[in-house]
Order: sequence, then C-alpha cells, then structure tokens
Amino acid sequence: MSLRNTSACWGIVARSLHWLFFLLIVGAWYAVEMREEFPKGSPGRGEWMSLHKALGTTVFFLVWLRLGWRLTGDVPAPLPGPRWQQKTSAVVHGLLYVMMIAMPLSGLVMSQFADRPVSWFGLFQIPVFVTPDKEVAEQIADLHEEVLWPVLLTLVVVHGLAALWHHFVLKDDTLRRMLFPRRPS
Ligand code: HEM
Ligand code: HEM
Repeated sequence: MSLRNTSACWGIVARSLHWLFFLLIVGAWYAVEMREEFPKGSPGRGEWMSLHKALGTTVFFLVWLRLGWRLTGDVPAPLPGPRWQQKTSAVVHGLLYVMMIAMPLSGLVMSQFADRPVSWFGLFQIPVFVTPDKEVAEQIADLHEEVLWPVLLTLVVVHGLAALWHHFVLKDDTLRRMLFPRRPS
C-alpha cells in the first residue's frame, strides 16, 4: 500500500490525516459542548475549554502539513459521474480546507484579544502578542461561533452525506478508497 496518493487511490498519509482531522474536529466540538455542563468559573468548565482550544490548535498546526501533502502529490481522479458533481465536490473540498484554517485561526486570534494565553495540552503556551481589546475579542467570538461554525458544520454534513450516498446508493468506491481501498487485482 502506498504512502503517497496515486491517480487511482488515496495513500496512507492522506487517509490517516483525513480521519485524524475528523476526530480532532469532532473532539473540539464535543469538548466545547461538554463545557456547558459545568457552571461558569468551575474547574471542569475550564478544563473542557482548554481541551477545546488544544484540539483546535492542533488542527491549525497540522493543516499546513495536510495542505502541503495534498498540493505536492497526485490526487486520485474522481470516479465516473456527472461533471457538476465532480465540480461541486472539488469546491466543497476547497472550502473545507479554508474552514480548517479559518475556524482555529479565529479561535486563536480571539484568545489573543481576550488576553488569554493558549496552553497546548500543558506542554507549551502561546503567549499573548497583541494589545488586548475585549470588544474585538467579542466580535471575533461571534464570527467563530455564529458564522464560521455553521458554515463548517453545513459543509461537513453535505460532504459526509455525499460520501454515504456514493457508498450506499451509487455503490461505488468513493468512500472505500478513503477508508480501506481494495487491492488492485
Ligand atoms: C477546528 C477548530 C475549532 C472548532 C470546530 C471550534 C468550534 C467552536 C464552537 C462550535 C464553539 C461554540 C460553542 C457554543 O456555542 O456552545 C466554539 C467556541 C469557542 N472556541 Fe472554538 N473551535 C475551534 C478552534 C478553536 C481554537 C483554536 C480556539 C482558541 C485557541 C477556540 C476558542 C473558542 C472559545 C474561547 C470559544 C467560546 C467563545 C465564547 O463563549 O464567547 N476555538 N468553538
Ligand atoms: C470534519 C469532517 C471532515 C472534513 C474536514 C473532511 C475533509 C475532506 C477533504 C478536504 C477531502 C479532500 C481530500 C483531502 O485533501 O484530504 C475529503 C475527502 C473525502 N472525505 Fe472527508 N472530511 C470530513 C468528514 C468526512 C466524513 C464524515 C466522511 C464520510 C462519511 C468523509 C468522506 C470523504 C471521502 C469518501 C473523501 C474522498 C472523496 C473523493 O475521493 O473525491 N469525510 N474530506
């Protein structure tokens, strides 16, 4: 099995990164939801929030590796299908990359203006480099929660449903080749 993509299949690195990012993003969402279970100011709330930030920051660090890997290698040709579907899929993939940068970046910039250093799993801290400004922090928080998150969620739902539709309705190899591709015969 190939590390790199080929014109027929996603390689191990692209597949591992795809599902790792899926777990990181679902994890970041779960952590920020769990925070709501704890009263304001409680240690539990702070711990879930720190986990949210650390997982989101990991997305921000790794997305450059994923993008670099994608841009410097082959991309498997889309399986046969209508041209509009192939174009839509390429646009959605591009937008998912934009959101995988914009979502954590807005979180990091929000933390800067809110005067909150971000700890990465307690291993190191990203210090505050800007002059804190509560109003700017609140505006970026609105962007993060009310604009970027609904856009990312919609894209992921459309993208995931399309993959399931290929698998269960069209019964082609689109999903299989992102999971466990068949060996070439
Ligand atoms: C893939 C990355 C990320 C995703 C999907 C994500 C998602 C979300 C979502 C859905 C919320 C709203 C929660 C709610 O309304 O209950 C939220 C809030 C928040 N996120 Fe993120 N986030 C990400 C990255 C980050 C990063 C990297 C940071 C900071 C280092 C961050 C800091 C925050 C903060 C401080 C809030 C709360 C804002 C407030 O309550 O005013 N996020 N995030
Ligand atoms: C956080 C959630 C997700 C993100 C950000 C995401 C992102 C992406 C991106 C950017 C690609 C293009 C290939 C690449 O450059 O790596 C891709 C491909 C793919 N994704 Fe996802 N994905 C997510 C969740 C899912 C889910 C839940 C499924 C299945 C139910 C899925 C199935 C696929 C498949 C089958 C492909 C290959 C499409 C093709 O060969 O044209 N993804 N994904």
